[in-house]
Amino acid sequence: MAEDLSVIKGTKQEQYQNLIPQIENLITGEGDLIANLANISAALKEQFGWFWVGFYLVKEDELVLGPFQGPVACTRIKKGRGVCGTSWQEGKTILVPDVEQFPGHIACSSLSQSEVVVPLLKNGEVVGVLDVDSEYLNYFDQEDVLYLEKIVGMISI
Ligand code: SME
Repeated sequence: MAEDLSVIKGTKQEQYQNLIPQIENLITGEGDLIANLANISAALKEQFGWFWVGFYLVKEDELVLGPFQGPVACTRIKKGRGVCGTSWQEGKTILVPDVEQFPGHIACSSLSQSEVVVPLLKNGEVVGVLDVDSEYLNYFDQEDVLYLEKIVGMISI
């Protein structure tokens, strides 16, 4: 299988719709979770050029940094802490238009201004999160939430 990614210009919807089948191809038949999370991070970064995109995985009582693309980041996040730890605790997606307004936000980088965190579920339990960050305020919306949830839903653990 060729590992080239076709990156397109277009509306956000067109970009996701072009990307999702490619992500499906990349992860289908590959049973290694880390390999799949690594390729999903790379594919999202290549298509959208976001500041930071990656995964944290639940290990005992913390989220631990997993595959990502972007600047170095905090390695461990406690349950209920920051946007990632809150998404873990509540088991739901959190859209943050302005990180300054989110109580307890963890600033891995002062450049990050808005973010979305989507929980990764196995049998109804959160086993990790996808975190995407932008250096622009108000960068993500419900359309991102919809497609990112779809992408996270494709990951089998
Ligand atoms: N901002 C996140 C921490 C992770 S980094 O942004 C990569 C949070 O508040 O949980």
